[in-house]
Amino acid sequence: MLERTLSIVKPDAVKKGLIGAILGRFEKEGLRPVAMRMLRLSRSQAEGFYAVHRGKPFFEGLVEFMSSGPVVVSVLEGENAIQRHREVLGATDPAKAAPNTIRKLYAESVQHNAAHGSDGPDTARTEIAYFFSSLDIAG
Ligand code: CMP
Repeated sequence: MLERTLSIVKPDAVKKGLIGAILGRFEKEGLRPVAMRMLRLSRSQAEGFYAVHRGKPFFEGLVEFMSSGPVVVSVLEGENAIQRHREVLGATDPAKAAPNTIRKLYAESVQHNAAHGSDGPDTARTEIAYFFSSLDIAG
């Protein structure tokens, strides 16, 4: 099934010069960018994006980190893009991520974990709409 997912190269990976490596890996895996932006999230934009995690012990640190520097947000399209993207990302905690996944290769910790991906079809729709209007998506 042709799907779209939201992908974020997080501030740690942008600072390390890994935008090309990470997006290039997604392209090699058949995940084609159809929309892309570089931006720096404000605290309130980061809180809004991660609203589902509000109240969790890591929420404050997550918001602080995600607003600490620029990110690259993209919509990736491909067959089973949501699951495929999650597989290429690897587990949230790099210590538990499979070999050769983005997080195993590039993440430092569960918080500084290099990239984000939508975790299901409903989340993908909400997360894509958080950053892009339908006119922004090249389809
Ligand atoms: P992400 O895929 O962006 O979705 C939610 C984020 O919260 C996750 O990646 C991590 O960066 C962060 N996160 C999840 N669990 C923890 C944790 N136990 N400690 C710190 N950060 C976490």
